[in-house]
Amino acid sequence: MALIQWGVDCYTGLPEVDRQHEELYALVNRLDAAKAGRGEMLGRVLDDLGDYVRDHFELEEKLMRDAGVDAAHQDEHLAAHAVFVERLGEFRRHSVAGSEAAADEVLAFLTGWLTQHIQWTDRKMAMEIHARMGTEAPHNMFAHF
Ligand SMILES: [Fe+2]
Repeated sequence: MALIQWGVDCYTGLPEVDRQHEELYALVNRLDAAKAGRGEMLGRVLDDLGDYVRDHFELEEKLMRDAGVDAAHQDEHLAAHAVFVERLGEFRRHSVAGSEAAADEVLAFLTGWLTQHIQWTDRKMAMEIHARMGTEAPHNMFAHF
């Protein structure tokens, strides 16, 4: 069974962002599936995740700049991304020495951070981008804000 599941509560209405979020979830699930294997394998999945996340954050940051999202909101969002990249780097350097417990710690961080970030920070970003660009957000996507 998948560890985390992308669903409508993650929806931003920004097609490329949504596609990449789904892919990120798939990578986390891949990491979960690889955790019982050798440390080497875990390291590879973490590297893939690190590469993917860097490209993904660049996309979001470009969308915010292009839409003229409030500078303070952009700064906050960029700071959140930087914390994540830093944390992932630490895990890559120190924690993934092949133990399943270490992998569980990484997975707990990834699932917690990504879920929270996508459902709140990215969806707020999307709401502001839609408002500024005059694009349509699906009517029920921000129901829980
Ligand atoms: Fe983000």
